[in-house]
Amino acid sequence: MQSWRASLLRFDPDGQALFDEDGLLVVGPNAEGRQVVLAAGAHAALAAQYADVPCTHLPGRILAPGFVDLHIHYPQTDVIGSPAEGLLPWLEHYTFPHEAQFADEAHAASVARFFCDELLRNGVTTSLTFSTSHVPSVNALFAEAQRRHMRLITGKVLQDRHSPDGVRDDTEQSLIDTEALIQQWHGVDRLGYAITPRFAPSCTEAQLRGAGELAAQYPDVWVQSHVAENLDEVAWARALFPDSRSYLAIYADHGLMRPRAVYAHCIHFDDDDRRLMRDTRTAAAVSPTSNLFLGSGFFDFAAADRVGFLPPGRPKAETAPSGGSGPREAGERGGMLYGLASDVGGGTSFSPFVTMRAAYFTGRAATTGFAAKPGISLAPEKLWWLHTAGAARALDLEGVIGNLQPGCEADFVVLNPAATPLLARRTSQADSLAELLFALIVLGDDRVVEQTVISQAQ
Ligand code: GUN
Ligand code: ZN
Repeated sequence: MQSWRASLLRFDPDGQALFDEDGLLVVGPNAEGRQVVLAAGAHAALAAQYADVPCTHLPGRILAPGFVDLHIHYPQTDVIGSPAEGLLPWLEHYTFPHEAQFADEAHAASVARFFCDELLRNGVTTSLTFSTSHVPSVNALFAEAQRRHMRLITGKVLQDRHSPDGVRDDTEQSLIDTEALIQQWHGVDRLGYAITPRFAPSCTEAQLRGAGELAAQYPDVWVQSHVAENLDEVAWARALFPDSRSYLAIYADHGLMRPRAVYAHCIHFDDDDRRLMRDTRTAAAVSPTSNLFLGSGFFDFAAADRVGFLPPGRPKAETAPSGGSGPREAGERGGMLYGLASDVGGGTSFSPFVTMRAAYFTGRAATTGFAAKPGISLAPEKLWWLHTAGAARALDLEGVIGNLQPGCEADFVVLNPAATPLLARRTSQADSLAELLFALIVLGDDRVVEQTVISQAQ
C-alpha cells in the first residue's frame, strides 16, 4: 500500500465534483493484484486508519483522475497542423499519405512510443485510439501500451473503398484480420479492441455489415468511427446510402450502434439522431480543437442535453435545454452520452487543458440566422468530468477508470496549479473550486502535469 497527501479531486456518481483541500489517496492491490484506489477523502478523516502506510506529501499539488481521451489517431501524430480547406482535402493530401507508412512495423513502433510518451506527459492515461488499416500498426500500439501497463483501446481501420492505394484494405481480409486481432489482444492485461470502420463513405455495404456482425458477436469489444463532422462528408454519405434515414442511421442500419460504440464529432445532427444515440447508449466523442481547425462546425451541447435528459417516471418526455450547468444533465438517466476528445491530428493538441478550453469556447459560440442558437457557458466541473469520469462512462468503464473513488484503477495525475507565473498568480486568488478549475482550463497545458501515475499489476 502507498498513499499521497495533497489536494484531491474526484467525482460522485451524479458527476458532481468532490474536492478535499487537504486530501489523502490510498492505493493498494485488489484481488487480482492490480493497484486500485482503496480510500480517498479528507486527510483528517483517513489519516489515523492509514497511519502505517508510507505517504508522499505533495503540498500545493492537486491529485486528480488521469484524463480519458475518447478519440485520437496515433498515426496522425505527425499530421498535426497540416493546413487544408476542410476534412476531405485534408484526408486526401496529408492523412492518407502519412498513414500509408504504417504498413512498416518499425515505423509504427517508433510513432507508438512517441505517442504514448506524449499522452502520459499530458496526463492522458486512457485513449480510444485509431490505428491505421495495417495490422502491424495495431500490434505496435498494443505492444507499447502493454509495456507501460496502460488501459488503452485501439483497432485496425476498415476502409475498403474511396481510399488510395497504400491504405485501402480488402473487404474479406479486413474482417478476418479484425477478428484475429480481437482474439489476440482484447482483454489482455488492460488492452481493449475497437472495431474501427473509418467512416461510412470509406466502407462498402459488405464491410459495414461484417463489422456489425463482429460487433454483435463480441459485445464487450468497442466500436469507433466518425459521423456528421462536415457538410460535404454528410452529403457524400447520404448519397452513398440513400436508404438510411440519416448519416448516423447508416451505422444503426448495419448493427454498429450499441453500448461501447463511440462516434467522433456528431455535429450535423437532428433530434432524431440524438434520440438514436440515447436509445442505443452510443456515445459521442466531442472534438473541439479538431472542429475549429478543420472548420467543421460545433457540437451542440444544449441540444444533446435537451434530448438526453429523461425525468424520472416520464421516460419519453424531454425537457428544456439545461444551459450546460452541470454533469447531472449529461449522459444520465438513459441520456445521450458524450465526452471530450483531442482527435489529433485533426485536433491540434494532446493536452486535455487545451481540449477543455476549446470545448468551452465552442459551447460559447452562438450562431445567428436560420440556425440561431444561444451560446452556453459550460461549468468547469462539467468540462473536467467530460474528460475523466464522464468519458469513462461513455466508454462503459465507469468505476474502472476516470475517477479516484475506491475500486477505481489507480491512474492519476499530480497537477501543479502554480506551474507558470500567471497560473500561480491567478490560482492563488481562486475563491472556489470552480474558479480554481477554470483558471487551470483557461491557462493550463502540459506544464501543469507534474507526474502521471499508471496503475501497476503485481
Ligand atoms: N473522417 C474519416 N477519417 C477521418 C480522420 O482521420 N479524421 C477526422 N477528423 N475525420 C475523419
Ligand atoms: Zn478522428
